[in-house]
Amino acid sequence: MGENVLQGTSSFRALSTDERCCAEGRCCPLPRCGRFVTLEGIDGCGKTTQAHLLAKALEYAGYPVLALREPGGARISEQIRSVLLDPENRAMGPVCELLLYEAARAQLVHEVVKPALAAGKIVVCDRFYDSTTAYQGFAGGLGAEVTRRANELAVAGCRPDLTIVYDLRVAEAARRASARGAADRMEAKGLAYQEKVARGFAAVAAAEPERVRTVSALGSVAEVFARTAAVAERTLGFALGGAPVARALEELV
Ligand SMILES: Nc1ncnc2c1ncn2[C@@H]1O[C@H](COP(=O)(O)OP(=O)(O)OP(=O)(O)O)[C@@H](O)[C@H]1O
Ligand SMILES: [Mg+2]
Repeated sequence: MGENVLQGTSSFRALSTDERCCAEGRCCPLPRCGRFVTLEGIDGCGKTTQAHLLAKALEYAGYPVLALREPGGARISEQIRSVLLDPENRAMGPVCELLLYEAARAQLVHEVVKPALAAGKIVVCDRFYDSTTAYQGFAGGLGAEVTRRANELAVAGCRPDLTIVYDLRVAEAARRASARGAADRMEAKGLAYQEKVARGFAAVAAAEPERVRTVSALGSVAEVFARTAAVAERTLGFALGGAPVARALEELV
């Protein structure tokens, strides 16, 4: 086993030196010491809420954490985000949309995610490439093979260690999103579209059961977070404990 760079976190599994950022060892010469967690699911299911709680609880438990969101997370990627989510950009075609998402992702991985993982951080990202598979591939009709190749080009082997897909009925997620009062270009596409996205996420989870865990988003924020924390502890060996979880929840207003 390699050196555990996360001091004071005894249950955190140390990595062997051959576990690298890229499975083939081509993209990054450094041993990969951090962990990469992504949160996925349809619009309004609670990803951002849970990503925030998970990052906070990990931080309170003593882990070095970097919280990110997609599209965005780096200056150039945030600029691309504003183009993607601009309701005025109704003329945007599916291939342009796909390539913009991948451009934002490529920059995020290159500039932020890979260096953070190499430095031993726990990267918690609100959406990542499974959203492209579900939205552009399944719901948008580009197909799984096109999005697989585009995703691969953008991330260059940098894959999540754990992806949580939140499962919630589309009608309930829409209720939550509308209560929040936000309606961007994606949300404006309607419930039938969201149903297709949900089927896309279900297919992603079925295809990679080791990496992708489905968590019910039903119930209160605290109930969903208890499930989220349990999955993170079980799959990646994090030691969160009751106090960091309670503190993160207390701070959520
Ligand atoms: N378990 C929950 N029960 C009730 N409301 C919730 C729950 N989780 C989140 N919410 C609320 O629902 C709304 C949507 O949550 P959130 O923004 O976290 O979802 P999201 O998946 O990130 O949405 P989007 O895909 O649009 O970014 C917010 O107002 C949030 O406070
Ligand atoms: Mg969100």
